[in-house]
Amino acid sequence: MKSQRGITVTFLPDERTSVVKQGTTLLEAARKAGVVLPTRCGGKAACLMCKVTIGRESKDAVRPPDEAERRKLGSLLEQDVRLACQTAVQQELNVNVPEDPLKAAVRRRLEAARRGEMDELW
Ligand code: FES
Repeated sequence: MKSQRGITVTFLPDERTSVVKQGTTLLEAARKAGVVLPTRCGGKAACLMCKVTIGRESKDAVRPPDEAERRKLGSLLEQDVRLACQTAVQQELNVNVPEDPLKAAVRRRLEAARRGEMDELW
């Protein structure tokens, strides 16, 4: 929703939100929401570390990828992947942030522990 305050961007799975101006990049919106997206190139579409996924229903909520982003992402674009540093917000949307690999490993172990499979994992 675009209000007088701005556009709400929600980062999943943690459901952190930020309210930003139209044209703000998803990387800037993430920082404002307290979501850490890895970067190494400083937002120059070079490191490909800031990849996020945008649902097809939200495709029009962001500016289409420019030629540089298209070249960098290639077929990942068909999987709704975008570079957060290159993607400008147009309307309210949800953005899926990939899980940190360390967090994912811990989560898998905790899930296995709940299922009683700890012997196999430790
Ligand atoms: S921050 Fe490096 S590609 Fe986006």
